[in-house]
Amino acid sequence: MSDLLHRRTISRQGRAGSEQGSAGFPAVRMRRLRRTAPLRQLLRETVLSPADFVYPIFVTHGNGVRLPIEPMPGQFQLSLDHLLEEAAEAESLGVRAVLLFGIPSQKDSVGSEAYDPQGIVQEAVAAIKHATDMVVMTDVCLCEYTDHGHCGVLSANDGESVDNDATLELLARTAVSHAEAGADIVGPSAMMDGQVTTIRAALDDAGHGDVAVMAYAAKAASSYYGPFRIAAGSAPRSGDRRAYQMDGANAREAIRELGQDVAEGADILLVKPALAYLDILAQARERFDHPLAAYNVSGEYSMIKAAGANGWIDEQAAMMETLTSIKRAGADVIITYFAKDAARLLREED
Ligand code: PBG
Ligand code: ZN
Repeated sequence: MSDLLHRRTISRQGRAGSEQGSAGFPAVRMRRLRRTAPLRQLLRETVLSPADFVYPIFVTHGNGVRLPIEPMPGQFQLSLDHLLEEAAEAESLGVRAVLLFGIPSQKDSVGSEAYDPQGIVQEAVAAIKHATDMVVMTDVCLCEYTDHGHCGVLSANDGESVDNDATLELLARTAVSHAEAGADIVGPSAMMDGQVTTIRAALDDAGHGDVAVMAYAAKAASSYYGPFRIAAGSAPRSGDRRAYQMDGANAREAIRELGQDVAEGADILLVKPALAYLDILAQARERFDHPLAAYNVSGEYSMIKAAGANGWIDEQAAMMETLTSIKRAGADVIITYFAKDAARLLREED
């Protein structure tokens, strides 16, 4: 002990006297703790678990349907029978939650199937709650259900812009219909102002005070949603979503969006996409104590899958590095199409 102290004193003096150089080398050797796999495991700061993941699934009408989504290898539009198999498999791998997206039988100008009590998502929620113990989350938006592909109803004035307040009522109906079907968490993703307040009030009025709201609080207008829009056939027929989704260049505005959803009563805050917005996620982690979710979106999945399929990148390593970066930046919950693959890999490593 005294020898140690003595040496430290000497080394301090040494540094002051610049005998060892100002960087402290060679007394500090960072590589010592990287030498073996057990050492690295012991000292790993960020550790993924299958329970961190939420598995997004596209549900469609019919029976025996398992339609591959071309830009998202490994992902499918599933009818209820296959959906239950898929959910059960994810659950057996330790994944605790699914997030459901619906492909309606028909699209129309007001997105009717979004809030139809017999809609595909409502049926899927009930079926999964019946068959598994998983947490069931739903996406509350109209874009998969509208024929024009926007996230809300179009304004009667110009037939072009999305009418915020008219949309709120439909989002609230959608959320309540998901709650009635048994959803644990509803996720409004339309980026309408006031959507969390309106949905919270509607849920409470309908006796669903226990259903939580995961607010897509900071959601950028992003090119990374491209593959999802192919999967759901939800690309806007004309125009884009820049008048309601955020400008990805704005970090301070993202913090305001998050704060606003906190004020509106959100239970969980979501940042989306994840990778190009890890700085927002890290700032959100510092500023808010709410559970934080990050959405590892379709384009982020497709890029790794495509490069992996070409042999240009080690797909599994890139997947784990990506998911680790999202958790390291501050996410408690990671919504990812890799949920099953990553969970399987984590099991094998154990
Ligand atoms: C619905 C919604 C979208 C995504 C999640 N919810 C599409 C969009 O906003 O265009 C994208 C998810 C992904 O790309 O994986 N608003
Ligand atoms: Zn939408």
